[in-house]
Amino acid sequence: MKKTVMNNEKILEVKDLRVSFRTDSGTVKAVRGISFPLYKGRTMAIVGESGSGKSVTSKAILGILANNKIVEDGQIIYDGKDLLKISEEEFTKLRGVKISMIFQDPLSSLNPIMIVGKQLTEAMVLKHKADKKEAIKVLKTINGLLSLTDKTETERLMKYVEETPKDTSIDLSEFETLFADTLEREIKKQEDNINILLPTLKEIEAAGFEDLAKCEEAFKKTYKPLAACELGIAIEKDNDLSVFPTIVKDFCRSAKLAKKLIEQRDAYMAKYNVQDFYDLPADVRAKLREVITTPEAYSEKLKAATATLIAHLEKLTSKSEEEKMALSSLILERYANAVVASKSELTSNQAKHKAVKMLQEVGIKDAEKRYAQYPFELSGGMRQRIVIAIALCSSPEILICDEPTTALDVTIQSQILELINKLKEEKNLSIVFITHDLGVVANMADDIAVMYAGKIVEQGTAEDIFYDPRHPYTWALLGSVPDLETKEKLNAIPGTPPNMLIPAKGDAFTPRNVNALEVDSLYQPPFFDISETHKVATWNVDERAPEIRAPEIVVKRIAAALKEHPEFAPKANNMKNSILNYIKEVK
Ligand SMILES: Nc1ncnc2c1ncn2[C@@H]1O[C@H](COP(=O)(O)OP(=O)(O)OP(=O)(O)O)[C@@H](O)[C@H]1O
Ligand SMILES: [Mg+2]
Repeated sequence: MKKTVMNNEKILEVKDLRVSFRTDSGTVKAVRGISFPLYKGRTMAIVGESGSGKSVTSKAILGILANNKIVEDGQIIYDGKDLLKISEEEFTKLRGVKISMIFQDPLSSLNPIMIVGKQLTEAMVLKHKADKKEAIKVLKTINGLLSLTDKTETERLMKYVEETPKDTSIDLSEFETLFADTLEREIKKQEDNINILLPTLKEIEAAGFEDLAKCEEAFKKTYKPLAACELGIAIEKDNDLSVFPTIVKDFCRSAKLAKKLIEQRDAYMAKYNVQDFYDLPADVRAKLREVITTPEAYSEKLKAATATLIAHLEKLTSKSEEEKMALSSLILERYANAVVASKSELTSNQAKHKAVKMLQEVGIKDAEKRYAQYPFELSGGMRQRIVIAIALCSSPEILICDEPTTALDVTIQSQILELINKLKEEKNLSIVFITHDLGVVANMADDIAVMYAGKIVEQGTAEDIFYDPRHPYTWALLGSVPDLETKEKLNAIPGTPPNMLIPAKGDAFTPRNVNALEVDSLYQPPFFDISETHKVATWNVDERAPEIRAPEIVVKRIAAALKEHPEFAPKANNMKNSILNYIKEVK
């Protein structure tokens, strides 16, 4: 058992997740209100028998639930967003990028007719393309911003970027100074523009767009500062000014068109020497029907555009110093990333070189040779290593492993687990590790959630679960882990997993629990807090419960383990029916 590293920064949090599926026989209640945090740099193991809802949970995190799903409730918070609410487009930027996954069967994740090296380099090139696209977008925006200022300095810096050899890092300090100065100037300029624009726009709005001459007058006054403002405020998406450039553009275009039509009308009136539009000959007026109708149409558009524009400008002027600073540091950060990303070209040779290195990193010997082989030519363990390498190509923050070793034999299994552990340390990954076998996670998990019938029945650190288990189902799982030393094969859990169409009223494990209490079948037990890290949903720990012993085998094992690792002995033992009460007798 590993000692849990305490790190309390949550990278992802599942909150009261409830997922059901529509089927011909009814609604399957697959996940019935589960909550757990995933801490940065830690492994959260989700353990439970077949059908308990483990994969549904992992698929919900990855946004790949089957179409007959009903997400009844809950949130999955990552990076300040609820993954249950974001669009598929947003998800594609996360899935396989920030959140990667490895599944049980490596063959199904690999393309059978492509050599493994190519599969790796493809993943790298894809990731790289996405980086570059983002970089180019940001650079363009920033160049737009720069276009308003003195270019000599920026040109010098751009040249410096161009000429820096590919493998040398760029000193960004000069850029920072330049950008800080530029931004300050830009913000000032925007404010000046706004000071001109706002009153004029309000004037137009007040004129109600009916009096075209008045509008024309106002357009003349505003057009120039508007154009300047459009460039100045073309900052970036993601902040609340995102629509601003579009509005300004629309506004200008509409203004120009309206102006053109007015000019046309005036030209006719001059030609026929009349003072009033209705004094024009009927056929001319017919020709100019557009002139009559279109400005009205435009005026509708202009009305809307102006209102939005005013709202945005007002928002901008109301930005506090702090908000402005935050905005400028956001731009700076993006700029730095963009410069770095745009510099790293990935040639096919470099990609191959990198792929071979990655193969070595996941413990594949003869990497050069393996690079050119097809998946079927490799062993299961090696294939799973390749899947892991592909999953890590994008430098994800979170890795979801759904029974990644179930298809492998025992010795290979422990090698893969060791590899995942090693990569987790090296890359500071946060891992959700799904398995039906508690034995598998003994050396993997920092935290464990035991799932039964779509609910978490016990949750805690690995020490909590292995040294102080409280739920009868956790006992049963522990009892079914074969002892590695004695090879003693243990009791399979009697009975069958519950029917998820008709969820149990009380504790769903009751029918399989030989020591079930009457209350178990009647009422859903709440979570009882055993300690700050450990909670359990069983009536057994309620103070009114009678004495209930954990199975002999579990008590014995914990007693033996504690002899070797007294440091893992639970500190608090304040609740009813703790195994520790019985351990004294076993000694
Ligand atoms: N698309 C679906 N339609 C109907 N029922 C589904 C669907 N997907 C999952 N289920 C049901 O949801 C429940 C939970 O399934 P899930 O795949 O999460 O189990 P699991 O814990 O991963 O099990 P295993 O260890 O076998 O992989 C099961 O009863 C399953 O039959
Ligand atoms: Mg599964």
